[in-house]
This record gives sequence, C-alpha cells and structure tokens, in this order.
Amino acid sequence: MGETVIKCDHISKKFESLKAKNNFIEVLNDVSFDVRAGEFTVLLGPGQCGKTTLLNIIAGHELPSGGRVLERDNEIKDPAPSRGMVYQDIRLFPWLTVMGNVSYGPKVQGIDKKDYLPRAQKFIDLVGLTGFEDTYPIKLSGGMKQRVGIARAYCNQPDIILMDEPFGALDAQTRYMMQEELSKIWQKEKNTVLFVTNNIEEAVYLADRIIVFSRCPAKIKKEYQINIPRPRKLTSVEFLELRKEITAQIEDDM
Ligand SMILES: Nc1ncnc2c1ncn2[C@@H]1O[C@H](COP(=O)(O)OP(=O)(O)O)[C@@H](O)[C@H]1O
Ligand SMILES: [Mg+2]
Repeated sequence: MGETVIKCDHISKKFESLKAKNNFIEVLNDVSFDVRAGEFTVLLGPGQCGKTTLLNIIAGHELPSGGRVLERDNEIKDPAPSRGMVYQDIRLFPWLTVMGNVSYGPKVQGIDKKDYLPRAQKFIDLVGLTGFEDTYPIKLSGGMKQRVGIARAYCNQPDIILMDEPFGALDAQTRYMMQEELSKIWQKEKNTVLFVTNNIEEAVYLADRIIVFSRCPAKIKKEYQINIPRPRKLTSVEFLELRKEITAQIEDDM
C-alpha cells in the first residue's frame, strides 16, 4: 500500500447538548488511524455512533474538539476539492443535466473545458450512464442519481473520496448492484476511498481494511485486513466466515 493520505491523530469531538446549556455530549473519543493511498478503507459502526461527524471533520466541514487531522502532512481546517464527498442523500443541482452536474466542480474551478469534458464523459461512461448526459436529475432513479454523485466526485480528481453511507437509502437489489459497480470502478481507478457504513456485509464486500467503531462515543475497537480477492462473492466460504467473525465480534462488545 501507498503513502499516508489522511492521518487522524487522537481526534475527539464534543457537542453542546441541545437539551441543557454547558452540557456536552462526547461523540468521538481518541480516534487515531491512517488512510493510505490506493486503499479502500471502510469505517464500520452502528447508527448514531459518530461516523458522519468523523467524516465531516476529515472533509473540513467541522473542527475536532481535540487532536488533528492531516492531509499529506497539512492540517485540515477547511473543505477542499482534494477531498471529494459522496452523500447518502444525493445533492444534485436540479437545474443542471447529468453532464452539468458531473463537470460542475472543474468548471467552477476555472479548468479548461478541453480538459474536463472528456474526463466527465469518461466517468459518466464508467458509472454506466452513457446516453443520459443531457438528462435532468428529476428523471433519474435513486440508483442513477447515486451514480451521478460518484461520477461527480471522481471528475474532480480528488486525492481521496469520502463516502457517507452512499447506498443507505437504496432498495436491497439496487444496493447490491451499486456495490458491485463501485468495486469495479475502484479496481479500475485504484483511487483512495474512505467509505462509511453500518452494514457488515457491505463492508466485507468493498474493503481492503475495515475499522470497527463502538457505540457513541465512537472509539476504534478493531481493524480487519480483508484479503479476499476481487470480484468477491457474497456466498463464498471465506466471505461468510469473515462476515460471521466480525458479526460475532460486534455482538460480543454490545
Ligand atoms: N451539531 C450537532 N450538535 C449536537 N449533537 C450532534 C451534532 N451533530 C451530531 N450530533 C450527535 O452526535 C451523535 C453522532 O451523530 P452522527 O455523527 O451523525 O452519527 P452516525 O453518522 O454514526 O449515525 C448523534 O447522537 C447526534 O445526535
Ligand atoms: Mg451518518
């Protein structure tokens, strides 16, 4: 694996309680881990444990209460195009076409059309939306919107893509299809991905490495290196065994 892209160094986060003044809720407790170049890292934890908070801190939308996050040795304090984000609730511009949405980032950065249009087309093709370039988001299904979200993140050529439960709102069938697509794209591009989920099967299917978090306040409990060759099969013996092991481990700690 490659060099360190993101370093979370003893991150903690407290929010002022919405119920009582001067009362704080601890959401993240002393979280340290590295994300390495070209690696698909999955953060796995239960709902409300602080996963989105952690991703928002890495994205630069939120500051930690303690510790720091580095991107290639520079402390993260603001959002930057070098860190792309894919959300669960896909935030597409309704007044822009698929092509308009995918190429929006490089366009506002003032990059030459000659440079970004072929790239936008490449990622539209890669996510399977060839022929839908001129379609507006209102005409797209949930899975197709998520494909646009992924193509848009890739088109910015970020150093790392942060994905916050991107398939959480999809029906089971579409979710499986999107996991397969994402795995294929990643095998082609070999980019750095930090992916958040509460779904053990999804984590084992996608990850090179799984970092398991406890309930709130989120602490790292365990790490798993996943060496099952791709394409992975959800029904293979090694897949089921690993899934069982992680499930047992998580239930043990509850
Ligand atoms: N801005 C905020 N102010 C107060 N509490 C917050 C804020 N953001 C998140 N929280 C609380 O932090 C906890 C973790 O939230 P979140 O990071 O969204 O968890 P997850 O993504 O794992 O479901 C929740 O209890 C949530 O209510
Ligand atoms: Mg969340």
